[in-house]
Amino acid sequence: MGLMNCKPAIAIVYSSVTGNTAELAGMLLECAQKRWTDVRVLGPREFCQEKIGDFDVVLVGTYTWGSGEIPHDMQRVYRHFENADCKSVVTAVFGTGDSFFAEYCGAVNRFRDMLFDQTQLAAVLKVELSPQEHDLARCEKFVEAVARRLVPDGIKQRKAT
Ligand SMILES: Cc1cc2nc3c(=O)[nH]c(=O)nc-3n(C[C@H](O)[C@H](O)[C@H](O)COP(=O)(O)O)c2cc1C
Repeated sequence: MGLMNCKPAIAIVYSSVTGNTAELAGMLLECAQKRWTDVRVLGPREFCQEKIGDFDVVLVGTYTWGSGEIPHDMQRVYRHFENADCKSVVTAVFGTGDSFFAEYCGAVNRFRDMLFDQTQLAAVLKVELSPQEHDLARCEKFVEAVARRLVPDGIKQRKAT
């Protein structure tokens, strides 16, 4: 089977306390499933450094805590990416926050900067608190940007057999 027929492996790893980021992750899952068949949703504890290489794409979702901080459970995910050799993995980061706070979606910013260095960062999406209907179009664009970055040659050779 040629590389053009490969099915990319997509992971959505996110954390949510009050449900806003979970809702956004659900919208992104719907968009992703329109394009790809192998889309898995993982909690931060299910996602370890060794698993990063299993995926062609990782979509990272986080809310923001403290004063623009990454929440505790997502700090593990951050460290996994920091320590992994994952330059070929396409990533995108999404999250919800509250612009009442000094650093709106600070955790998304922190992931964005690290993933830009460590991976092929394709897109960033920030949503104010609970996602609204108009955010669906933004989700579609976010997934489209990921798909554009995922050229067939970038999909791992192991899936070609
Ligand atoms: C104690 C606390 C601190 C927060 N700090 C920030 C912040 O610095 N920046 C921000 O954008 N949002 C901040 N938020 C807002 C949350 O990130 C926002 O409500 C988010 O949508 C929660 O996501 P979840 O529903 O997925 O848990 C804070 C919320 C709480 C309760």
